[in-house]
Amino acid sequence: MVKLMPKITVQLEDRSYPIVIENGLLDAVGARCASLGFVGQAVVVTNPVVSALCAKRVMASLKRTGFAPFIITLPDGERYKTLKTVSSVYDALVKRRVERRTPIIALGGGVIGDMAGFVAATYLRGVPYIQVPTTLLSQVDSSVGGKTGVNHPNGKNLIGAFYQPRAVFIDPETLDTLSEREFKAGLAEVIKYGVISDERFFNFLEKNAKTLAQRGLPLVKAIKRSCEIKAAVVASDERESGLRAILNFGHTFGHAIEATAGYGRIKHGEAVSIGMLLAARFSFKRGLCGAEAPERLEKLLLALGMKTHIPRLPVPALMRAMTLDKKVSAGRLRFVLTRGIGRVEVLQADAGEVEAFLRVITVNRGREP
Ligand code: NAD
Ligand code: GLY
Repeated sequence: MVKLMPKITVQLEDRSYPIVIENGLLDAVGARCASLGFVGQAVVVTNPVVSALCAKRVMASLKRTGFAPFIITLPDGERYKTLKTVSSVYDALVKRRVERRTPIIALGGGVIGDMAGFVAATYLRGVPYIQVPTTLLSQVDSSVGGKTGVNHPNGKNLIGAFYQPRAVFIDPETLDTLSEREFKAGLAEVIKYGVISDERFFNFLEKNAKTLAQRGLPLVKAIKRSCEIKAAVVASDERESGLRAILNFGHTFGHAIEATAGYGRIKHGEAVSIGMLLAARFSFKRGLCGAEAPERLEKLLLALGMKTHIPRLPVPALMRAMTLDKKVSAGRLRFVLTRGIGRVEVLQADAGEVEAFLRVITVNRGREP
């Protein structure tokens, strides 16, 4: 059994904040905001899909606790994660004369969370915000850690700020309505935490794979453990000058697959699950870990019904995407590689070595010969 902390806090001195995980928490958002000392106006930023599913309960809970809330509804989708959309939020805030102490409540997945967080970081030079994530990916990853921002036509998340929320309120029951594809995309990040720092958690995922895939009870524990690990990593390296990079396990290969396939064709979480397996196989190839690590990872991904085979993509295009990535320095690629389940390291590799590996592995569709 995975040992859980009674309460999760992201420890950042005077900017520390709690992560609360409770079924039914949507009905207590108002009371929780009041307990953080907020009063008066509150702004809920969401999209039409999440609004239809969750906003009524959040708004009612805010009103019950004496808040005067209003909603800003943004269009749904990654393609709207832009400065133009953010600008429309500034307009609404200015129109309503929103003041510096008014909290912004991000109600939705990572797209809403990243944009609402960026608005909070920049409107009036900073207003408080609270994350109420409603996708598995946002509950275990994007709502924690204060990376906020939007996309630029030339690349994802190129504009942004590190700006921590005041609290993260996670209601796992919101996941009941999530599509299977979105759910699996979030599971990739859950597995990532086991590989990067906690073999016992990985064992737990292996043992409970069947019920997890059906969104059974172990899911809440998996969300908690993921948040604990992310909170600890962020607390020790908020601005990614070192350790935080381990959260990118599987992402160098993953981003290259995502970019080469064409954004939207393959989901980020799908690319990450294939990318993690490639990173584990590459680690084995470099003699960093035994064959057991990639084998166990593949078995778990398959047990959870996730993607493991890389799509047919040209290796030169994958290499081009990787060398354009933020993680390149002096022609050497930076990878998070595993020394066995639960242990990773950030290491460099020559482009030629990576290319040779990909040529073999893509011919064999994700498997070593
Ligand atoms: P998303 O926000 O686009 O949500 C996916 C889909 O699920 C959307 O259509 C949304 O409307 C819908 N949805 C949300 N909640 C739902 C619910 N409860 N029931 C049914 N449908 C629901 O995608 P995402 O995967 O949550 O987030 C991806 C974004 O997160 C990307 O923009 C990525 O760059 C960002 N991200 C940020 C960080 C970070 O540290 N800030 C980390 C990882 C990813
Ligand atoms: N999702 C990676 C990070 O938060 O650093």
